[in-house]
Amino acid sequence: MKIIIDTDPGQDDAAAIMLALGSPEIEVLGITTVAGNVPLALTTRNALIVCELSGRTDVKVFAGADQPLRRALVTAEHAHGKTGLDGPELFEPAVPLQDGHAVDFIIEALMNEASGTVSLCPIGPLTNIALALQKEPAVAGRIKQIVLMGGGYFEQGNITPSAEFNIYVDPEAAAIVFACGAPLVMLPLDVTHKVLTTKLRVERIRAVDNRAARALTQMLLFYERFNEEKYGTDGGPLHDPTTIAWLLRPDLFKGRMCNVEIETKSNLTRGATVVDWWGVTDRGKNALVLRDVNADGFFDLLTERLANLE
Ligand code: RIB
Ligand code: CA
Repeated sequence: MKIIIDTDPGQDDAAAIMLALGSPEIEVLGITTVAGNVPLALTTRNALIVCELSGRTDVKVFAGADQPLRRALVTAEHAHGKTGLDGPELFEPAVPLQDGHAVDFIIEALMNEASGTVSLCPIGPLTNIALALQKEPAVAGRIKQIVLMGGGYFEQGNITPSAEFNIYVDPEAAAIVFACGAPLVMLPLDVTHKVLTTKLRVERIRAVDNRAARALTQMLLFYERFNEEKYGTDGGPLHDPTTIAWLLRPDLFKGRMCNVEIETKSNLTRGATVVDWWGVTDRGKNALVLRDVNADGFFDLLTERLANLE
């Protein structure tokens, strides 16, 4: 499977990148960064650091959009720390950043690879994906699928009562992506709130005891502090790697095809993903919306694949 991961690392983004790099079924054509959890300079530095921690200095990383299409950037240092990757001792990455803009890399990859063979896995705000669709509309018909972490329906929101962070930051970009016609697979809060980094699960990750797993353990111990306080749970939701896990083991998940529209007008509900789960409209079903997951199976997969890294 050929994929491009579009990301705003982010401790949970790091887990997604490591899961992909530890899975031989997946060829990561490149990693593109976007402003989100923290500003672009930091998400880009963090993506390079995660590749190095994974022993994969060969992976190409491209920097992308430093702000949403039309709105001011909203960041989430409260959850991820001021570096965006708080937890482990960080370092200046030796891996060089690729020249060229992430959006041009996405377009080039989609135009050069055989049509219908490249999956996009956006796990941050959808700015880069929307810009690629605007700059080269022909890519829409060449995307195999867009497997994204974002939105929420039964779980509503996390950054506002009605919106999930990735969609909230750039709702206009999300509206473009959800209307582009490419096959969409949506991993919303309804799924990710069911994959909690409990003490037992983090201990199993720690026991993998390689460089990547040791760093990820420290990231999760930092990241879950905020989430345990907010949700009163044992562990926090490990959002982003659910996208990669779906690619590898779709049988771990359950959901249905639904119409999904994005609220871009209202201040109160900006960024809400309006999912017609009960089919009460005749709007086209543009996304596979996942709702349930075998959480133990998910963490077994993540832990097993981490062991493949250096
Ligand atoms: O709402 C969760 C999403 O926002 C995750 O992708 C997390 O990394 C943040 O970007
Ligand atoms: Ca993210």
